[in-house]
Amino acid sequence: DKLLCVCAVFVPRVCGSVKKQLVEALNRNQYLKRLEPQQLGDMVECMYPRTYQQGDYVVQQGEAGSHLFVLADGKLDVFEQDTLVSSMVAWTAFGELAILYNCTRTASVRGKRPVNRVCAWALEREAFQNIMRRTAEMRHHEY
Ligand code: CMP
Repeated sequence: DKLLCVCAVFVPRVCGSVKKQLVEALNRNQYLKRLEPQQLGDMVECMYPRTYQQGDYVVQQGEAGSHLFVLADGKLDVFEQDTLVSSMVAWTAFGELAILYNCTRTASVRGKRPVNRVCAWALEREAFQNIMRRTAEMRHHEY
């Protein structure tokens, strides 16, 4: 709960139209769409924007995951080992696997070369876990 407060105080509020796009992006992800609408809404409230230069890795395969992301601007390439397996366009959620399942990153994700600057909205693992914990506690009280 402490972390959720920090988000509310220091991070500029996500404006309405961005919020809608973030929720839609989370709902298009085959794993995240199973969460409750309230949980997805809470997640969006805690997201903040981060920028990356061309060729920067946003996520590296094999590392521990600290954030879940939604790509907002630019294009990203996805690599398994050194093989390009996919590309991502704006309003795609990624990095959910390490956060949901506590595994290491299953792929590397990098700004597509040589073009773009990348903007992605990030949610910290701790904020995600606080949201999940809060739901569990509310259910326990109702029980
Ligand atoms: P995670 O494993 O946390 O970090 C890497 C992310 O890349 C992963 O979550 C998925 O969101 C994404 N990802 C992994 N494999 C693929 C793939 N084959 N195509 C597109 N995205 C992928």
